[in-house]
Amino acid sequence: MREALEQLRNQALEEVDRAATVADLDQVRVRTIGKKGALTQLLRGLGQVSADQRPLLGELANQVKEAFNQAFAARLEALKDSALEAQLTREGLDVTLSGRQRPPGGVHPITRALGEIGDIFQAMGFFTATGPEVESDWHNFEALNIPADHPAREMHDTFYLPPGPDGEKRVLRTHTSPVQIRVMEGSRPPLRVIAPGKVFRCDSDLTHTPMFHQVEGFMVDRNVHFGHLKGLLEAFLRRFFERDLPVRFRPSFFPFTEPSAEVDMGCLFCAGRGCRVCKGGGWLEVLGCGMIHPVVLGNVGIDRERFSGFAFGMGVERLAMLKYGINDLRTFYENDVRFLESHAGL
Ligand code: FA5
Ligand code: MG
Repeated sequence: MREALEQLRNQALEEVDRAATVADLDQVRVRTIGKKGALTQLLRGLGQVSADQRPLLGELANQVKEAFNQAFAARLEALKDSALEAQLTREGLDVTLSGRQRPPGGVHPITRALGEIGDIFQAMGFFTATGPEVESDWHNFEALNIPADHPAREMHDTFYLPPGPDGEKRVLRTHTSPVQIRVMEGSRPPLRVIAPGKVFRCDSDLTHTPMFHQVEGFMVDRNVHFGHLKGLLEAFLRRFFERDLPVRFRPSFFPFTEPSAEVDMGCLFCAGRGCRVCKGGGWLEVLGCGMIHPVVLGNVGIDRERFSGFAFGMGVERLAMLKYGINDLRTFYENDVRFLESHAGL
């Protein structure tokens, strides 16, 4: 019986040590000193032991129980401490973490590009003007030296609208150039103005969407010449792209400028070798420009003998494609969350 008691003690103390949770530990307690536990069972056999052995074994049994209770209490304390610690770690706040989280939204790449373009021209002394997206035929075409039967109208794939209440012919503006007319009708030179906004054309492929953005810019003053225009646009492009990309001025035609040019940037997607984005040509057209046509100055009552001016209209999506490396212009407006997340700015 003595060996049985000693064995029970050793085994119970070992189990106490091994118990990994408070619940495990309590089971060890029930198994060892509970009403139907091992020690109780052993003590039942005390009756058969000789009378002189009985007190010694009884004392030994009490020592076993005492040793068990001590070990149990110590282990219980330790398990409670570590359970508390685990809970604190799990539920705790790391007060050393920064409280600032990335906000759930971001700025669309076109809005970013518009902001950057605006900042650059503002720093060059340009003011911002806006005009309506539903525009009169006069402002969008006629005043810009594009009469009704002029072939240049074909270039614009115009969305025509029903006439206004006063019978005036209306269109969704096909470019931001009508803002030139609106500003020049209402103010006198010297003028340095940009006009950002949405424009609309019935057109869609890798480099065209039916709604896109332009930033119009123009300057009217004494002795303004093409060299000013070229210098300004080159300075703008260098700042916008923050590096020197290939740029070329190519002679072109607009009824409202003379001479006229278009500006192409070297295609970033194929390094000028030719690809789907640049349609094999190695260049991507980003803007149209020229010296404001004397007929246009006459239409808004500016003295064309005393003043001259230049104007340009840039495609914001094209500039953003090249700056942010986006090879399909239509993705700007598909609202695919993966695209937006990877190109959104803050
Ligand atoms: C014009 O719209 C002229 N108003 C620009 C201008 C202003 C010339 C002032 C002279 C003086 P154009 O149709 O080429 O020109 O368009 C200008 C730019 O808009 C293009 O170079 C291109 O970058 C962009 N663009 C044209 N069509 C689309 C389209 N469907 N989707 C996206 N960008 C386009
Ligand atoms: Mg063009």
